[in-house]
Amino acid sequence: MAIIKACIFDLDGVVVDTAKYHYLAWKRLANDLGFDFTVHDNERLKGVSRIDSLNILLEIGGLTFTNEEKLTFADKKNSWYTEYIDKMTPDEVLPGALDFFDQLKSKGVKMALGSASKNAGYILQKINLTHWFDFVVDGTKTAKAKPDPEVFLLGAKGLNVAPNECVVFEDAEAGVEAAINAGMYCVGIGNSAVLGKANFVIPGLFEMSLEKLVF
Ligand code: BG6
Ligand code: MG
Repeated sequence: MAIIKACIFDLDGVVVDTAKYHYLAWKRLANDLGFDFTVHDNERLKGVSRIDSLNILLEIGGLTFTNEEKLTFADKKNSWYTEYIDKMTPDEVLPGALDFFDQLKSKGVKMALGSASKNAGYILQKINLTHWFDFVVDGTKTAKAKPDPEVFLLGAKGLNVAPNECVVFEDAEAGVEAAINAGMYCVGIGNSAVLGKANFVIPGLFEMSLEKLVF
């Protein structure tokens, strides 16, 4: 049995449901470009970086653009996305997250954020969670996208703990793979049919407790 010294949380889909805002902003871009983008298609973008998400969107629309045009589209989508984030409040923290954070703090377990989003710092601020995290790794600090383990290894380094002392909480398949590639334990948040590679899967942090962190 390993001793768990730290928990590293993905943000979107684990702590807060920003997927709906990403969806609305991507859909607006797709509609501007003359095609539709469904909730089903949006599943493919979870955990995927902004530019990779755009490439998937354009593939769905069957459109090709230069890199310069793509950057303009990514910026446009992000400005619409940040309009939604601007309106976010602490009420949007997903059920069970604060209770679990409390349990971790009371036992001295360190906490980091490990997100692909360049907006993660701003979102944490809007939902009033910044103070919970001992270290934050977001999309501005990483060069390689999940399933590369970089984001979580940087988190462990920032917390000064070994990878096998960390548990990652992830809702995306690529994120679960990133945790495994980092040599960490992983709790999947969502559907076990998608996240089967995790050590175990729960529907949300409301089903999480310290007792379950015994591997
Ligand atoms: C991830 C989301 O957390 O961040 C993805 O799951 C998103 O859907 C990615 O594309 C990048 O986010 P941002 O805020 O940098 O555009
Ligand atoms: Mg996620």
